[in-house]
Amino acid sequence: MYIESYGCQMNFSDSEIVTSILSKEGFDATKDITQADLVFVNTCSIREKAELTVRKRLEFYNSIKRNKNPKMLVGVLGCMAERLKEKFLEEEKLVDIVVGPDSYRDLPNLITEVEDGRKAVNVFLSLEETYADISPIRLRGNGVSAFVSITRGCDNMCSFCVVPFTRGRERSRDPESIIEECRELFKNGYKEVTLLGQNVDSYLWYGGGAKKDFKKASKDARENSVRFADLLEKVAKINPLLRVRFSTSNPQDMSIDVIDMISKYNNICKYIHLPVQSGSDKILKLMKRGYNRSEYIKLIDDIKKRIPDCAISMDMISGFCSESENDHLETLSLMDYVKYDFGYMFKYSERPNTSAARMKDDVSDTTKQRRLSEIIAKQQSHSFLHMNDKIGQTLEVLIEGVSKKSDQHFFGRTTYNSTVVFEKKEKKIGDYVMVKIENCTSATLQGKII
Ligand code: SAH
Ligand code: F3S
Repeated sequence: MYIESYGCQMNFSDSEIVTSILSKEGFDATKDITQADLVFVNTCSIREKAELTVRKRLEFYNSIKRNKNPKMLVGVLGCMAERLKEKFLEEEKLVDIVVGPDSYRDLPNLITEVEDGRKAVNVFLSLEETYADISPIRLRGNGVSAFVSITRGCDNMCSFCVVPFTRGRERSRDPESIIEECRELFKNGYKEVTLLGQNVDSYLWYGGGAKKDFKKASKDARENSVRFADLLEKVAKINPLLRVRFSTSNPQDMSIDVIDMISKYNNICKYIHLPVQSGSDKILKLMKRGYNRSEYIKLIDDIKKRIPDCAISMDMISGFCSESENDHLETLSLMDYVKYDFGYMFKYSERPNTSAARMKDDVSDTTKQRRLSEIIAKQQSHSFLHMNDKIGQTLEVLIEGVSKKSDQHFFGRTTYNSTVVFEKKEKKIGDYVMVKIENCTSATLQGKII
């Protein structure tokens, strides 16, 4: 089998689960698509552009199937499979299998169905599936850092977002299975885990079941429940040499306990990805984000009070329905207040069936693009400020690989998630080193091991 992944970290993590499920059936992963009997693409629906990228890849698979490998089966996994369901089979004639994010355990049966000459679809969304017992087969092999999913789905229903439709209701994974997976990773030489969920701060384990049923659980179950801060502590305690990261924090759910836990443990990285989407109260309300500008600022202040050097990043959307020039200026002024370390910035893209799709997508593409460019320019200047600030400091870096630009150099990351490039010396991938920062661009730091 050959598997390709698009979109968020969760998709990359899911592909590792799929690989594990199929390896039990005797499928080996290959990196050469022309050798594969089975080709999977794990898809993303978050913006129209993401879907177009996948459509292009399907054309490419089609050409391979026609010219080199006529027996090859093609499966579409993930969010686009869930969103389009059977329609995929009608639209993309070469697709044989369509499988949503909660149905990967059914893959062996679906493959058999296709081998029997039928098309196979399973897009059932579950209230319980977390793949807790499946040990992912790591595909992104640096052997140093791994993704570990802790929740699936999302209950927030932000008006612009397709995720609640494609990934279903939010549910949390058994903490024991999470700890076990992280322990195993550390035993195998991994030095960093990133705990993944759409909204990690709403992690809640009370012995099984969907989050929405928590209120109905027994008193005992509720009292012994595990929340995200507790989970972070359990993972941090595995070993001080295992770095812990997490993503994504939703501002509406992030609690002081989590911030305190970051400052309590040296191995929990001082970096919080805190998507804001807009700086305007009017737009935040239309987006149904569940916080307003002043609540968001209060959270930022709380973080900076407790962890003054904490790095913070955001996601931002330009040109959401009815966004005025004034709303856009509020976004820019919020950025000036927070001075984010990093940012992931997008033009609003209407997604079918979301509640925003019923609003007017009335900001022209030119305006969306111009506002986006202004946001990106501002972010670059802020990123540069933060990078510049680090010059002269000596920072701990976990070595993750050989620099793309020079085989005499390694790259790694600081606790703040900034990338550092430095000469190799006698060190190896997976080592922690102290690096004195001497120079920077807006994206990387350069330094020397001391
Ligand atoms: N769970 C995360 C978001 C996951 S989606 C949160 O709490 O915010 C990743 C990012 O994609 C979002 O933060 C948003 O900035 C962007 N995004 C989602 N839907 C979008 C849309 N319809 N158009 C443009 N960007 C979108
Ligand atoms: Fe999407 Fe909002 Fe959830 S952006 S993933 S609905 S927190």
